Amino acid sequence: MQIEKSALVTGASRGIGRSIALDLAQQGYCVGLLARTLEDLNSLAEEIEQLGSQAIVVPADVRDASAVHHAVTTFIKKAGKIDLLVNNAGILKEGCSNISPEDFADLIQTNLVGAVSVIQAVLPSMKEADSGAIINLISRSGKAAYPQVGGYSASKFGFYGYNEALFKELADTGIRVSAICPSFTNTEMAQGLKDLSPEEMIQPEDVVKTLRYLLSLSKGASIKEITLTCQKHVARTLEA
Ligand SMILES: NC(=O)c1ccc[n+]([C@@H]2O[C@H](COP(=O)([O-])OP(=O)(O)OC[C@H]3O[C@@H](n4cnc5c(N)ncnc54)[C@H](OP(=O)(O)O)[C@@H]3O)[C@@H](O)[C@H]2O)c1
Repeated sequence: MQIEKSALVTGASRGIGRSIALDLAQQGYCVGLLARTLEDLNSLAEEIEQLGSQAIVVPADVRDASAVHHAVTTFIKKAGKIDLLVNNAGILKEGCSNISPEDFADLIQTNLVGAVSVIQAVLPSMKEADSGAIINLISRSGKAAYPQVGGYSASKFGFYGYNEALFKELADTGIRVSAICPSFTNTEMAQGLKDLSPEEMIQPEDVVKTLRYLLSLSKGASIKEITLTCQKHVARTLEA
């Protein structure tokens, strides 16, 4: 089958990444599925193939730079190119002054170092084509810090800063860089975090629509970031 457009989605095994991968497949992308849980990636790949689209499973732990490099090069070799990276894999662990060194290191390794290593693995191919889009799933906690999740915020503030630097570095190329910064989103990650029912949260489908919007813009237009706030959280805390 001829591959017209291809996208790699990290953290595709569940939550926001899974919804995005399914939507991209419905739009005709050949989708690369990256996460650690092979079983979940295989069942998503089956679902995508039933839609008549193509999926390429490339399991990897983003904390392992050589595994990321292998997964990305395997995907690009099979798909022939990479048009879009949705850099979404991430973890949440609670704690600030009380966070264990292990949890803090895990947050930084996954949410910051891991995200950057995926970008570094896809960039040579995008630069060669002088074309592509990198969409980084950051968080509202990358712009406003909360003591309950201080370690998480530190990792996401770092990623937010990196996104801005990359946005500027690549402005003179055909590669677009944007961040989506959602607040509480109805996935496993947000369960039990706040006094919000699943219906009151942002839905993964809202993130999917935001991605669609970013991808719909002409090459002359770029958006550094979009923040999605959770309406009920704003109502209860008056924090936007
Ligand atoms: N849900 C929210 O309220 C919310 C709000 C703002 C931002 N975000 C961000 O949005 C992104 C997706 O979150 P989500 O809510 O969809 O979370 P989720 O349901 O917990 O899914 C996280 C995804 O990341 C993957 N992942 C975690 N650690 C990984 C690792 N070391 N290597 C490779 N893959 C890894 C997981 O797959 P495996 O476990 O199979 O590896 C899973 O596919 C994250 O970056 C998160 O920080 C979420």
